[in-house]
Amino acid sequence: MRELPPTAGMPLVWSDFFHAGERLEDGLSRFLSIPISAVLSSGTASLVVALETLKRLHPERKQVIIPGYTCPLVALAAAQAGLKIIVCDLLPDSIDLDPNQLRSLLNKETLAVIPAHLGGLPCDLTTVVKLARANGAKVIEDCAQALGATIKGRSIGLAGDIGIFSLTVGKGLSIYEGGFIIAREERMRAALYETLESMNLHATGAQYDYSFSTEELNMLGHLIGYRMLYNPAGLSIVYGDNLKKELKAGNVEAAIGDVFSREIAVRPVGELRKNIGASALKRLPQFLADNRARGLARAQKLSAYAERGLKILQPQQNTDGTWPFLMLLFEDEATCNQALDRLWTRGLGVTRLFASQINGYSYLADILPDNPVPNAASFARRCLTISNSVMVQDRDFDKILSAIEPLLKTVGQKQGDADLVSRT
Ligand SMILES: Cc1ncc(COP(=O)(O)O)c(C=O)c1O
Repeated sequence: MRELPPTAGMPLVWSDFFHAGERLEDGLSRFLSIPISAVLSSGTASLVVALETLKRLHPERKQVIIPGYTCPLVALAAAQAGLKIIVCDLLPDSIDLDPNQLRSLLNKETLAVIPAHLGGLPCDLTTVVKLARANGAKVIEDCAQALGATIKGRSIGLAGDIGIFSLTVGKGLSIYEGGFIIAREERMRAALYETLESMNLHATGAQYDYSFSTEELNMLGHLIGYRMLYNPAGLSIVYGDNLKKELKAGNVEAAIGDVFSREIAVRPVGELRKNIGASALKRLPQFLADNRARGLARAQKLSAYAERGLKILQPQQNTDGTWPFLMLLFEDEATCNQALDRLWTRGLGVTRLFASQINGYSYLADILPDNPVPNAASFARRCLTISNSVMVQDRDFDKILSAIEPLLKTVGQKQGDADLVSRT
């Protein structure tokens, strides 16, 4: 009856439900030092609006380039916007797009490149932005997993042209489902505003408060559930039981939560739910500082196994991550699978981020090309994540380490030998 969450979401407190203060848009604008263009029903909805805006600005461009390893929702948003999806591989053992492949994929049809800051870690954008600019394409930074992460002290989402964020459950700050958009340039913000108007999404204020629509009341119910059940006992019912059931049935994609419906709802968010987020936002800076300290300390502990073939993804120079979870890369798929066999159903917050490379999901086959993306595929097969939630106590983390450690090769040993040792 104890299940730790797979990511470090910030718990709500009851007083968040009785908030009367700053609006969420204003709070987020202050937090990120940039005006927020809109709070919408999800990060995916925000991506749809971003793509619709770019389509209007560049109707002749009809392709988007997405990373070989990212959330299936990114592909679904691009498909909903009617764009042709091109898949670009990552650099080996990295969340960065492969610049050589990106260069070869960019052309005058490219509307946007969508690099992703995964696991709270900013990816490298310098080359991506340069290459996209040279081709007249835009960069939409996928910041869904990294609200609060910075590059040279500035929020992610501002090096490219548009940044989209997620406030969906499991993210640091959550209103159960939600997302928002930022844009560095005033001109782009004006273009986004026009799209929102044309989709009837920008109306706010008393006469347009959506708080009492059916969808909003449903979301509010879920948010109350989140307040009550986002703890180890509650999570065993709403998360752990299903995880175990799906894994037992061999449905890895469903177990991870990678299966989504085709239709992306693009809606505004009611004031009531936004106010709950605005109240919780006040705790976010401290929450992220604590996450960061814990994440760095645990990454440091894990990095002792580097020589034994275990890699931990770390922030790149001049960047700060938000550490929702730690991303571990094993030397080979077999060792990663063995670690998951030992840990996945133990309620310790260990799981996979995505089930496969983006064009490995059979249910997306009709919208994605099947070009090989070997680095992304290898990343997907060798990666597991350890939750960095405050609920993962030191003794839990030690249990995870003691399950993983015997699987690793000893120094100077080949991985195959370590497999033999661990099986005996
Ligand atoms: C990398 C990435 N992009 C986009 C999204 C979509 O965000 P949302 O769930 O708010 O629609 C997610 C969601 O988890 C994500 O992980």
